[in-house]
Amino acid sequence: MTLLTTQRTAPWWRDNLCYEIFPRSFADSNGDGVGDFKGITAHLKYLANLGINSIWLTPFYPSPQADAGYDVSDYCDVDPVFGTLDDFDILLKEAHAYGIRVIIDLVPNHTSDQHPWFKRALAAAPGSAEREWYHFRDGLGENNELPPNNWTSLFGGSAWKRVPGEKQWYLHLFSTHQIDLNWDNPAVRDAFDDILKFWLDRGVDGLRIDAANNLVKAAGLPDVTPENSTMTDQQYRGPMFDQDGVHDIYRRWRKLVNTYDDRVMVAEAFHVQPISRLVNYVRSDELQQAFNFDYQLSQWGATNYRAIIDKYLTNMGTVNAPCSWVTSSHDQVRIATRLGLTTPGATPMGLDSTTEQPNEQLGLDRARALIMLTMILPGALYLYQGEELGLPNHTTMEPRFRQDPRFFDSNGTMIGRDGQRIPMPWKAKAPAFGFSPSDKSWLPQPDSYAGYAADLQEKDKHSTLSLYRRLIALRTQNALGTGSLQWFDSPRNDVLVARNGSVCIYINFGYAPLDLPAGRVIAQSRPGIDKGTQLPGNSAVWLALDEMPHTQA
Ligand code: NOJ
Repeated sequence: MTLLTTQRTAPWWRDNLCYEIFPRSFADSNGDGVGDFKGITAHLKYLANLGINSIWLTPFYPSPQADAGYDVSDYCDVDPVFGTLDDFDILLKEAHAYGIRVIIDLVPNHTSDQHPWFKRALAAAPGSAEREWYHFRDGLGENNELPPNNWTSLFGGSAWKRVPGEKQWYLHLFSTHQIDLNWDNPAVRDAFDDILKFWLDRGVDGLRIDAANNLVKAAGLPDVTPENSTMTDQQYRGPMFDQDGVHDIYRRWRKLVNTYDDRVMVAEAFHVQPISRLVNYVRSDELQQAFNFDYQLSQWGATNYRAIIDKYLTNMGTVNAPCSWVTSSHDQVRIATRLGLTTPGATPMGLDSTTEQPNEQLGLDRARALIMLTMILPGALYLYQGEELGLPNHTTMEPRFRQDPRFFDSNGTMIGRDGQRIPMPWKAKAPAFGFSPSDKSWLPQPDSYAGYAADLQEKDKHSTLSLYRRLIALRTQNALGTGSLQWFDSPRNDVLVARNGSVCIYINFGYAPLDLPAGRVIAQSRPGIDKGTQLPGNSAVWLALDEMPHTQA
């Protein structure tokens, strides 16, 4: 076991190699078909062998689980489905003993409708102090039968729900069970200070801030108009997004976090554009990182990735913040699936038997090439459980198994995110592929997951798991995360060539093979790429730069 000691001068989070754990689907220890803390603790050795240096746990707090725990009913405890606070403490301690830090998910934009704050607000009279914790407003129309404004929920339908038998409605930007808190109320700010302290005192190393750009709403909750709003695949702009006032909250939190040693806060600020607005979240007195969703959602192609990488390195650099690269998460279709679609990198909300099916091998080839590009980039990196196995989505799950509120709130028009939340295949031949000691699994696993099982990949030096281990080891040894990127002239416009320190990458986004310069191959996305040979399409190679004859900057 290694200890959390370091000789480095850069804070650990600047090149943090973080592994996202969606606890429901990682490992089940008690056979109920839902993952839990003991299951995670039992797999820490696997994570240490992978070489990551932190984990991010998506919400594990008491919750009715209307949105996989993003509907919190008590911020300072653990849902029994995942274990107890003691189990959490054990996980934290054992993770630290492996040199793995623990980031938890803070959900400040909304609470569950079962949270005592909301129950108290519902029981209180309109206009009361209790109702001020949320956004209650009288409905419009003669009988208050219309919502107070025209905002729509991100999960479909109106963003307002009426209190039965009353004039008043309350705001929920996500599902009807996730009620938006009123961050203009100082009592809400005080309550969250206490929540932060509760977990920081317990020893967590960081917080991922859910829906970080939503907390503050425009004064008066004005209607959405063409002038004040843009909703596209790239940008969410409107009176409920990215209001300037949100930065007061992050400055306040940073002051608090700075009273502890070395903790990190990461913003989930989805589709904040232009990038100068995203940069505001990572100014030196606010949060330290913001996920790079442009990178995660990019379409396949040399020009796309190069433009995004340059844009982020330059802009994050203006405030000396590290970039936070990500290619998969519990919210988006897995990278190996997206890159196997006819439009590679398309971003469907989900896939099922009525939609296009990906080319699984092509998607995997590209995902393996892309991780080689991602791993050479300076900054922090967030991997999503199963990504290291090259897992695809479940693309044919029957609707009767679905759990994502997006599916229900949109009346089935959005397939939802269940396909990327399938329990992990640990063992090819065990029931539930080793996810659970029983044969239970809260979402069904596709048969094809047997071929991706970790125990098979452990034994195969060309497996995706072996590739990830190798890249992580090289990234760590060569300190690529705190290095810098330099592009080389590319021989073709579907190829990128770059270096970071003594490592050089060639990545071929096209189909035509590329002649490689002589040089020692230190990692390859496909077996068989060797010195002096060609780089096939949809693949990548790392070469030891010092040993290459002609490199041109
Ligand atoms: C972002 C989370 O990642 C997602 O899973 C959740 O549904 C929403 N925020 C609402 O909390």
